[in-house]
Amino acid sequence: MHQSIGVFDSGLGGLTVLAALRNRLPGEDFIYFADTHYLPYGDRPESFIRARSLQIASALVERGVKALVVACNTATAAAAEQIRAHVPVPVIALEPAVKPAVTLTRTGVVGVLATTRTLGSQRYQRLVETHGGAVKVMSQPCPGLAEAIETLGPDSPRVESLLDEYVAPLAQVGADVVVLGCTHYPWVRAGIAARLPEGVTIVDTGEAVAKQVERRLTSESHLGGLGRLHMVTSGNPTQVRETAARLWGAALHVESWSI
Ligand code: DGL
Repeated sequence: MHQSIGVFDSGLGGLTVLAALRNRLPGEDFIYFADTHYLPYGDRPESFIRARSLQIASALVERGVKALVVACNTATAAAAEQIRAHVPVPVIALEPAVKPAVTLTRTGVVGVLATTRTLGSQRYQRLVETHGGAVKVMSQPCPGLAEAIETLGPDSPRVESLLDEYVAPLAQVGADVVVLGCTHYPWVRAGIAARLPEGVTIVDTGEAVAKQVERRLTSESHLGGLGRLHMVTSGNPTQVRETAARLWGAALHVESWSI
């Protein structure tokens, strides 16, 4: 029997990562858990996110996943090490793409958009210290943005005004590379680009994570499935189904899962 790859996020941001995974690994089976009941993670205490992430990881492993993708920068920042120590399957986590951004900048200024919790984490501080070098890394917290994208929609007036507020400072300091350090933000990539000068490079992590998953599973001879997708949520499945259809552009079957 084929085992699935487990993927989770606080909500539907991780679908941007799932899209890259399905694109690169179309034959794999995926189970995607959206922790919508607890969205957003970004403004919650680190201890809460850690406990929640461990619970979700255990539940997915009990369901027999062969690998776990933490499709959430905030959960990675709070709990990646603990999840790795806790589960017996490969764990692929993601973090803001500061390292590639630093190699791409010409102005010497990189902007990072992420949740307050991600940017305040020790893991992120270490990332900037290790890879920032002489580059100025301007970290812009975006409270409320992930939640507004998911609950009100990427084109809602609230999202527009939050983007005005959060993207303008990056344009002002002359960032020529902007990192999308939250998996919800690729849903508003066009709105972010429209608020930056022409020629600014926008970097996200979906593709890099998909490559890493492929490498990891190939080396462990773990590839193979039937291309199925199973969506589960801690929230209201009808609402999640509607939001997923709007963001994903196709109907997805969503089941309720109480963790
Ligand atoms: N999508 C998540 C991330 O990548 C977090 C959004 C949230 O729940 O605040 O950080």
